[in-house]
Parts: sequence; C-alpha cells; structure tokens
Amino acid sequence: MINTNKEKIKIAVIGCGRIAGHHCRAIIASDEFELVAVCDLEINKAEQYSKEFDTLAYVSYHQMFIENPQINIVAIITPSGMHYEHVLEILNCYKKNIIVEKPTFMTPNQVFSAYSEASKNSCKIFPIFQNRHNLAVQRVLKALKNGELGKIYSVAVRVRWCRPQRYYDLAPWRGTFSLDGGCLANQGIHHIDLLRYLGGEIQKVCSLNKTLGSKIEVEDTAVAVFEFKNGAIGSLEITTAARPLDYEASISFVCESGLAQIGGIAVNELQIFTPDPNECEKKSEDFSGNVYGNGHAKIYKEIAISLHENKDFPINLNDVLSTIQLLNAFYISDEKKSWVNVNGAGDSLRLGKIDEYLASLYRTDKVNIR
Ligand SMILES: NC(=O)c1ccc[n+]([C@@H]2O[C@H](COP(=O)([O-])OP(=O)(O)OC[C@H]3O[C@@H](n4cnc5c(N)ncnc54)[C@H](O)[C@@H]3O)[C@@H](O)[C@H]2O)c1
Repeated sequence: MINTNKEKIKIAVIGCGRIAGHHCRAIIASDEFELVAVCDLEINKAEQYSKEFDTLAYVSYHQMFIENPQINIVAIITPSGMHYEHVLEILNCYKKNIIVEKPTFMTPNQVFSAYSEASKNSCKIFPIFQNRHNLAVQRVLKALKNGELGKIYSVAVRVRWCRPQRYYDLAPWRGTFSLDGGCLANQGIHHIDLLRYLGGEIQKVCSLNKTLGSKIEVEDTAVAVFEFKNGAIGSLEITTAARPLDYEASISFVCESGLAQIGGIAVNELQIFTPDPNECEKKSEDFSGNVYGNGHAKIYKEIAISLHENKDFPINLNDVLSTIQLLNAFYISDEKKSWVNVNGAGDSLRLGKIDEYLASLYRTDKVNIR
C-alpha cells in the first residue's frame, strides 16, 4: 500500500503502440500518478511518448526497473497474448502492481496463475474494461438492478466493424490465435464482458466462427446463441469483415417492462430506453474525437484509491475469470461444433496457444543490462 500522505504513484508504461497514448494522457491528467518511464522494443515509439509526456524512454523493461526501483505499478499494453508472459516475469522479478489491457489474459488458466503469482508477491492486478464506465452502460445496469426494466427476456449483441487486411498486416501478432484472437477476443471482448456485467452469468453457448474477409488464421466473423443462468436467451453477431466502414456496435436488452439499447462506436450512446426516453440524451456521450472514451481516466482514479487506501478494485479475480471463461467458451463451442457449458469448459485449444517464434518477437532479453 502507498501511504505517505498521498505521495504520487510512480508508474511506467510498457508497450507504446496505438492505445498507449490514451493511457499516458489519463496518467498525466491525474494528480495521483507520476509517469516515470515508457518502454517499447522499438525505441522510436518509446521516444515519441517520452518526448510528448516528458518522461524517460527505455527499450528493455529489465533496464527500466533496475534503473527506476521507485516504480510501483506498470501498465502492460503489449500484444494480448504476451500479457501473461510479461506480467508473470514482472511479478516474479520486480514485484510490481500491474495494470493490464483487455482481454487481460487469453485463457482461464492464465488468469488463475497470474493472480496466484500476484498474490504470492503481494501485488495487485488491475484489468481494463473501460466501457463499463460509460454513462449509458451505468444507466442500463442501474435499471436492470433496480427493476425499472424488469426481468430480462433476451439480449442481442451486434458488432459490424471494418478491419481490412492492412489492419491485420500492421504487426505479426495481429490476426493470430496465439497472440491476438479474432473478432471475439480482440474487438468483441468488450461486448462479451458487458453481456455478463449487465445481463448476469451465461450458462451455455453455441458459436460458429469463420474467416471471411481477410487472410488471417483467426475468425473475423462469429455468430452465437446462448442462455443465461437467469433463463434469458441471447444472440451475438460480431464481425470485422463489414466493408467499407464501421457500422454498428450495440447491445440491447428486451425485458418484461421495456427495452434498452446501447450503441455508438464504443457503446457510448443510449439509443433506446423505454422506462424514461429522456435519459437517452442525458446518458449518451460523444466519443467522436476519442474512440477509447472516458473510461481509462475513471479506471486510473479507481486504481489510485485501491493503492492509496488499500481498497478492493471493482474487477477482481472471479470477475475477470468469468469474462475470460465466457470468451473461451465461444471458441471451444466452435472447436467442438456443439453447445458448451461455460463453467468448467476450460481453455480453448487455439486461443493463447504458445507460438515460440511469435513470442520471441516480443520477449525482452535479460542480457546486456548495464
Ligand atoms: N481498451 C481498449 O479499447 C483497447 C484498444 C486497443 C488495444 N487494446 C489492447 O492493448 C494492447 C496493445 O494493443 P495496440 O493496438 O496498442 O498494439 P500495438 O501493436 O500498436 O502496440 C503494442 C506495442 O507493444 C510493444 N511491445 C511488445 N512487446 C514488448 C516488450 N517486451 N517490451 C516493450 N514493448 C513491447 C510493441 O513494440 C508495440 O509497439 C492489446 O492487448 C490490445 O488488445 C485495448
């Protein structure tokens, strides 16, 4: 716990790619954090953020931790399938608290062992699911909890986005089962998380995944049906093969007393809310200038509270485990070509499977540390 009269929390960022700037801006805007360093295997990327945010730049996180032992927490913003390896090594060697981008880890087993390593080292893990903080999501959650919408009958997720071949060609990790996953694990994970965050736990799923619009090994289109433990039923259609633009990313709830639909580029618009249609305008946010929304800043606030006051972070082991179990269940159902019970389904055969060649591209060597 950080205790000395709210001293600033010393933070570093590992992985200076597309989303990292958003983290750096949230960190810099907060009074609670001091950005000590940024790190990327590609020095030009680290230097770009180091200049923009007036901080140190590193290529090796080993060197960064050795030279800056005051770092208390680190944001892991590396390729998804590397989160586990990077987190384990940093917990093991340097005992730092960890912020980790979605999808947190690839499989339920990775979630278990990372949390157990964190607990062994008295460190915390803070997963990022920023869309939970959207005003529209919070309003629908409230309505589902306080009975305004009544019992849930059915839920539908529809994500129709465009990720052309050039997107998958940006980096070797993209579009691979080992380090990325397809439209379910990468783009759809936010909606999969919201399914259970808003609708409750899902009992069983049946999914069909296909690769239709790009030359990649992972699915770019998935269609699934599922049943919640509370008896509601649902469907999901997630694709990155929509052309030529992103069209829709919505989640809707048909309930005994009305209907709620959240849409927009990042589930930021309350489009239908029959219990009180006036809420639609009040609870919609404009994310046009910033597709990642306002959630990260709110999460950094929660992290500061958790570290300063030793309070529980809202997303705990069971919470993130359930989301990753559900994610894996969609893959396992496609692998088995059958319905799958989410509890106890285990790990997908493909998602997060170690590919030594790919992993070697993103490992940080321990040699040559001054
Ligand atoms: N929350 C969200 O909405 C959101 C949005 C985009 C990406 N993400 C997640 O963030 C992560 C990164 O995605 P991105 O789009 O920024 O990817 P990216 O490829 O643009 O960036 C990843 C960076 O990590 C660096 N890296 C890899 N291994 C490293 C190591 N050992 N040490 C230092 N740097 C290393 C790479 O060089 C690269 O610059 C992914 O897990 C992705 O799912 C989350």
